[in-house]
Amino acid sequence: MTEAKKLFVKTYGCQMNVYDSERMAEALGAKGYVTTEVVEEADMVLLNTCHIREKASEKLYSDLGRLRALKAERPGMKIGVAGCVAQAEGEEILRRAPVVDLVVGPQAYHRLPQMVEAGTRVVDTEFPVEDKFAHLPERRSLRGPTAFLTVQEGCDKFCAFCVVPYTRGAEVSRPVARLLDEARKLVDQGVREITLLGQNVNAYHGAGPGGTWGLARLVREMAGIAGLDRIRYTTSHPNDMDDDLIAAHGEVAQLMPYLHLPVQSGSDRILKAMNRKHTAEAYLRLVERIRAARPDILLSSDFIVGFPGESDADFQATLDLIRAVGFGAAFSFKYSARPGTPAAEKTPVPAEVADARLQELQALITTQQQAAQQAMVGREVEVLYEKPGRRSGQMVGKSGHLHAVHVDDPEGRIGDMVRARVSASAPNSLAAELISRIA
Ligand code: SAH
Ligand code: SF4
Ligand code: F3S
Repeated sequence: MTEAKKLFVKTYGCQMNVYDSERMAEALGAKGYVTTEVVEEADMVLLNTCHIREKASEKLYSDLGRLRALKAERPGMKIGVAGCVAQAEGEEILRRAPVVDLVVGPQAYHRLPQMVEAGTRVVDTEFPVEDKFAHLPERRSLRGPTAFLTVQEGCDKFCAFCVVPYTRGAEVSRPVARLLDEARKLVDQGVREITLLGQNVNAYHGAGPGGTWGLARLVREMAGIAGLDRIRYTTSHPNDMDDDLIAAHGEVAQLMPYLHLPVQSGSDRILKAMNRKHTAEAYLRLVERIRAARPDILLSSDFIVGFPGESDADFQATLDLIRAVGFGAAFSFKYSARPGTPAAEKTPVPAEVADARLQELQALITTQQQAAQQAMVGREVEVLYEKPGRRSGQMVGKSGHLHAVHVDDPEGRIGDMVRARVSASAPNSLAAELISRIA
């Protein structure tokens, strides 16, 4: 018997790439590849890339530099570049990096097996009309009780700074029946928590029984799947939070009290220049409505500092918005000019100004995050164990509010759900004492 070929996958970027990496590994699995964590023993290396900021896409070329030496020692080894840099740069990657054998865009990766067999250097960055999901093998190789499920791809919003509408293409929603089927199969394999994914997940409008379904209806239907204890979704645009979705946060017990709702800036002038199509005030009103539906919801956001034209007053307006909302977490980035986007034509804010603003914003967010964690101390939480902790007899999982929680529980197993009382807050996690095992 010949030994199985080994596949090493490295994933950069967002959760949608994590999902795609799993599906690519499954597609190649059908051709006899098994995954490995050891790059030195790989017959094929797949880099699933991100184009969102300059640093993210430059990582690809530094990794390719290192892989060149490895490939010299393993001549049969194949190197593939997938994801958003593959889509954005296509053929250019083959020119710039002779070590690369194949380049595949995020909408074409169901054709990976044929590409690998081709034997020549190939590029496929088409947006095929056929649904790639219909051409992929069924889900398998699951690692734990949580899973991602991409329900919607692409984006039609064209924020002035963002490459996603170009790398991922126009918004497409997957049909309801296929998603329910995939969700049921995940649950059959032991998954208890599903995070529904999309670059604009709450713009979901999929074909379903009786017509087009929005995200709220999909969530309500999924909540009926026996054994699916938790549902989350990410990432949302403020303008797509409709009444039904807000109501679902108050009505669907399985929908977890955490919402990532990026606002990017608190200045109306900058929001307009970003083409966000909402004001700071509209965001604050929206937050009020969401909190009215689910008072204990924890909110997080993304922020960009140093967008072209951002003045001190604009930046102060962002800090004001952060103070007004009180976030439980947030991601913040220094603006990075991306080729082909409208904002890239504008004069950038000096790097040192952007650096200082980023530090100030992150300090404020850290304070809020600590306050939100501190507020959990003494409260009872439900924790779904995802892995063993660093100390022996300890398990780590997430609470409904997406806090990482450590519990001393020598009998605990991955996939257990327990009730625990939070005893302390550390910088990036909570400690809790076991009360009872739920199941
Ligand atoms: N679809 C999501 C997020 C897309 S990318 C949304 O609309 O919110 C994730 C985050 O990266 C964005 O929210 C934004 O904060 C950041 N980002 C995107 N393009 C960027 C750029 N050119 N420079 C810096 N940050 C950027
Ligand atoms: Fe990018 Fe804006 Fe679309 Fe989000 S909504 S993916 S930031 S264009
Ligand atoms: Fe990056 Fe593409 Fe996701 S650019 S953030 S991997 S959609």
